[in-house]
Amino acid sequence: MGFNEAEKPDLPRIGVGMLGYAFMGRAHSDAYRKLDYMMYPPPAIPDLVAVCGRNKEAVAGMAARFGYKGYYTDWEEMLEDPRIQLFDNVGPNNMHEDPSVRAVEAGVHVLCEKPLARTTEEARHMWDAAVKNNVKHMAAFNYRFVPAVRKARDLIQTGKLGRIYHFRAMYLQDWILPHFHTPLLWRHNKDVSGTGALGDFSHIIDIGHFLLGSRISSVQSTLKTFIPERALMDGSGTGKVDVDDAFASVVEFENGAIGTLEGTRLASGRKNYHVFEVNGEKGSLAWNLERLNELDVQWAEGEPAETRGFQNVLVTESGDPWIENWWPPGHVLGWEHTFIHEIYHLLDCIIYDKEVAPGGATFEDGYNACVVADAMVESSETGRRVDCKY
Ligand SMILES: NC(=O)c1ccc[n+]([C@@H]2O[C@H](COP(=O)([O-])OP(=O)(O)OC[C@H]3O[C@@H](n4cnc5c(N)ncnc54)[C@H](O)[C@@H]3O)[C@@H](O)[C@H]2O)c1
Repeated sequence: MGFNEAEKPDLPRIGVGMLGYAFMGRAHSDAYRKLDYMMYPPPAIPDLVAVCGRNKEAVAGMAARFGYKGYYTDWEEMLEDPRIQLFDNVGPNNMHEDPSVRAVEAGVHVLCEKPLARTTEEARHMWDAAVKNNVKHMAAFNYRFVPAVRKARDLIQTGKLGRIYHFRAMYLQDWILPHFHTPLLWRHNKDVSGTGALGDFSHIIDIGHFLLGSRISSVQSTLKTFIPERALMDGSGTGKVDVDDAFASVVEFENGAIGTLEGTRLASGRKNYHVFEVNGEKGSLAWNLERLNELDVQWAEGEPAETRGFQNVLVTESGDPWIENWWPPGHVLGWEHTFIHEIYHLLDCIIYDKEVAPGGATFEDGYNACVVADAMVESSETGRRVDCKY
């Protein structure tokens, strides 16, 4: 006996159109499909209307596999489909601005992957258009939706750590090391991606803003391209890499905290090593994406003094963020669940007209991250410390 759609309770439905269907397309589609299964009742049931790609056979196959009703090979045509109420933009960075602006101008809500845009100007255009057209807008900084990260923010924002002195974060991967023979991809091409490791790992800029509730005010940065040529995909020669492979930056926040941000695709042995540490006057917090259920917590004046030190807290208790939707304590969550929390939040904001921020990142937050990234590029080019001009 099959599932009977008609027997679902009378929940609102929201038509989704998605641009792109590769890495992030799979992650977001997985979330739409699992949402009402785990987080019940959801604010709305996602109705997977269509997915858009350039190759007809490939996109048709993916539409069928991911459970979309149909497909388009032209995003402009897709955005004319009146069934689409939420546009999910998981295309490469050069495909973020125009389709997202077109969607908001049609009154369609938008979820757009990070970095929000290749430049501050593009991001500003997207943010302004979304505000002007009064739609919900969200930049897909999904790590805001890790229970342990949300708990870290709550501890900081409720004053438990007191004054914050330091935020330091790293995002380290290794997939472009020479022995992987990684060809030239869109991620190496400035016209398509804007920046390299910097944009890819702009998560650590957003997490800093999110945790501290304060923006980065100035940066002193170095960006570096270590491997300037890569083999072309078709084997016909090599092409130029014109974005950074790695970056390192000293930053200051508007609230006076200082810190460091580092990202690279050349850290041998590091796969998705996204870590942060926050030091405040009353204690410290540390987190690692590769162990995402855990938060290391230290209280400066914890008792008894002889056992004072970092404690490893498993953030899977029933009172922890989102956990009531999942399994009993200790039955850990994975990376893909961040997207389910993210989409639940966006649908909740759409259906009940709530604010996307501060729980989720808006296009304003996406713009803020682009401002910092642009300042880092300028600092690296000039060798000077640069103020972030929001
Ligand atoms: N939140 C995260 O953790 C995270 C992780 C990886 C990537 N991203 C971001 O997600 C976005 C997509 O990255 P990805 O890794 O999924 O890339 P990808 O290369 O795996 O997929 C890109 C998709 O866009 C499609 N596409 C490209 N140009 C198109 C066009 N003109 N019309 C229609 N479709 C087009 C491609 O066919 C492909 O399906 C990027 O902005 C990236 O920075 C975010």
